[in-house]
Amino acid sequence: MRKKLLLGNWKMNKTVAESKEFASKVAPIAELAKKNNILVGVAPTFLSLDAVKQGTKDFIVASQNCHFEDSGAFTGEVSIPMLKAIDIDWVIIGHSERRQYDNETDEKCNKKIKKLVANGMTSVYCVGETLKEFEKGLTKEVVGRQLREGLKELNAADFDKIVVAYEPVWSIGTGKNASEEIAQDICSFVRETIKDMYGEVSSKVLVIYGGSVKPENIAGYLSQKDVDGALVGGASLKIESFEAMVKALV
Ligand code: PGA
Repeated sequence: MRKKLLLGNWKMNKTVAESKEFASKVAPIAELAKKNNILVGVAPTFLSLDAVKQGTKDFIVASQNCHFEDSGAFTGEVSIPMLKAIDIDWVIIGHSERRQYDNETDEKCNKKIKKLVANGMTSVYCVGETLKEFEKGLTKEVVGRQLREGLKELNAADFDKIVVAYEPVWSIGTGKNASEEIAQDICSFVRETIKDMYGEVSSKVLVIYGGSVKPENIAGYLSQKDVDGALVGGASLKIESFEAMVKALV
């Protein structure tokens, strides 16, 4: 049985004080999630990672990015050893906003994922098509390429530390949801592609959906056979709505 996963992506939101306040209210939610075999957590900005990690228990605290080099002349970047030093062992890789604004390519994502795997850390690898690509019927072509490039040169055993998030770009922050059928179809395609690349381990990989997920629709997505969880932006910012999503999955 695959576990369920709810991961909040805070993007460029919340000061350290605001992050701490959220963290101070997490305990009962994390306990409820644990009892029900649901993995829960959030990805704050770099500034708040340490505070949220220190202020929570049984709660995933993920970085929104990392660099693939350990140190050096890379202004504005944060490395894997720096994250490890504050006990952060989950990292979101290849979010569409980073692909769009920060020149995050499949090749860079692959370098980061390989480095994370070597460090025993978990990658949440984001894939998804733009509206134009969706309208042209290119979803599987685009997602397939992102998977084959981003996840190349790994071993089947690495996949207990890799989560794939299917996030159609046209549904992120827009309130326009992909239907449950689309989410199922593409999450199943993700699993099939991983099967083709690495074999039976594909049946164990967590594949999650993201894009305008909220308390009202999360259970519908999770009821789909190949959708194991959700990556949630806007609706993860308020503790009440975060809690409502966990409750919807119990
Ligand atoms: P959203 O963002 O839930 O606000 O649409 C999802 C994401 O970008 O991960």
